[in-house]
Amino acid sequence: MTKSEPPSERPDQQRNETYVDHVGDPAIGSDVSLEWLRDLYLPKTNSDRTFLDDGTVVYQAQRTYPPVRQLSPGKRERILVTGGAGFVGSHLVDRLMWMGHEVIVLDNFFTGSKRNVQHWIGHPHFELVSHDVVDPFMIEVSQIYHLACPASPPHYQYNPTKTVKTSVMGTINMLGLAKRTKARFLLTSTSEVYGDPEEHPQKETYWGHVNPIGPRACYDEGKRIAETLTYSYMRQNDVDVRVARIFNTFGPRMSPADGRVVSNFIMQAIRGEPLTIYGNGDQTRSFQYIHDLVDGLILLMNKPYTEPVNLGNTEEYTIKEFAESIRDKVDAKVPIKLLPAAMDDPKKRKPDITRAKRYLNWQPRFSVRQGLQETIDWFKLQAAEGAI
Ligand SMILES: NC(=O)c1ccc[n+]([C@@H]2O[C@H](COP(=O)([O-])OP(=O)(O)OC[C@H]3O[C@@H](n4cnc5c(N)ncnc54)[C@H](O)[C@@H]3O)[C@@H](O)[C@H]2O)c1
Repeated sequence: MTKSEPPSERPDQQRNETYVDHVGDPAIGSDVSLEWLRDLYLPKTNSDRTFLDDGTVVYQAQRTYPPVRQLSPGKRERILVTGGAGFVGSHLVDRLMWMGHEVIVLDNFFTGSKRNVQHWIGHPHFELVSHDVVDPFMIEVSQIYHLACPASPPHYQYNPTKTVKTSVMGTINMLGLAKRTKARFLLTSTSEVYGDPEEHPQKETYWGHVNPIGPRACYDEGKRIAETLTYSYMRQNDVDVRVARIFNTFGPRMSPADGRVVSNFIMQAIRGEPLTIYGNGDQTRSFQYIHDLVDGLILLMNKPYTEPVNLGNTEEYTIKEFAESIRDKVDAKVPIKLLPAAMDDPKKRKPDITRAKRYLNWQPRFSVRQGLQETIDWFKLQAAEGAI
């Protein structure tokens, strides 16, 4: 820790106070101002819907689309994003669209929403397909970002068998498509493949400590087999693959009902309810802001590195510190309530990002403080519009 980085107690007493106003990498054309991105989820102008006193809502058609970079047809990729209407997927779509590519989103809207990509519907570079990845899908594409999978415990435990099918059959279908079209394939795997880790921080070489029959197994083991499938297609069928192991990520467009720590605390604070912590609150987590993750995913897709790569923030805080910080930022006068610990909930989770630094020249740039502020603003906007 350097002198300019005093020890921090909470996410709002940050070590890194630098305000990030540009994201991306000019070398691959993903660089863009934060203002351009913010306009998509925190628009300065009026909302595209009006809530009337009689309980109805009027949606206005958009006349112009957000500007995108001009790319010659020879450089323009045709990119399939499965799960592109979800939280991570929609931000990835925004950036790929900005870069000037053609983007096809495939989603069954289980946890995602059309509203997350609404600003692109009708754009000549954009297509939205309602489809379940468990069923085969044929299309000509040059890159596949395979995200489709419920990602939060309440969602993936809602129908565990379907979660396993989505991970296994969905990944087989998308790898089959990559094989047929010779598309580059990127799997969004997860830090959950490390389970309740006995090694800290977790390196990509760590094989994990996963309970194969617990309530989280449908997701954890589903992603582990998705990784196995990915490398089987690489060895057996020469598919060009990338695997991102994503650690906790937060930001605007997170589902308010996803039961994840950040969205739970923000929703409870906005509603004036006690903030609930499972366990004693001493368990630590590290959270990365969504735009850092999107930078990492696009870099990984565009670099020639095929081994799994951790993408996450290394700044650790206890859950209790997060709760206090969010409570203060929302200015809610509510207590913190401790509940029994959830089964198989890891006590510690922190990525080792040496690989990402070395092979992608990537590391998180956003402070948790800056990310939290935007996320709280977005949740407040949703609440004000009556959307949550
Ligand atoms: N957000 C995180 O912190 C995090 C952490 C680790 C890994 N990931 C991974 O990133 C990816 C995206 O996560 P997210 O946070 O955006 O979750 P999300 O739930 O917001 O998005 C998932 C998307 O996939 C769609 N989907 C689910 N099942 C589908 C199916 N059978 N067919 C078609 N579409 C389907 C959903 O409707 C949704 O739009 C997931 O693969 C997840 O495992 C996310």
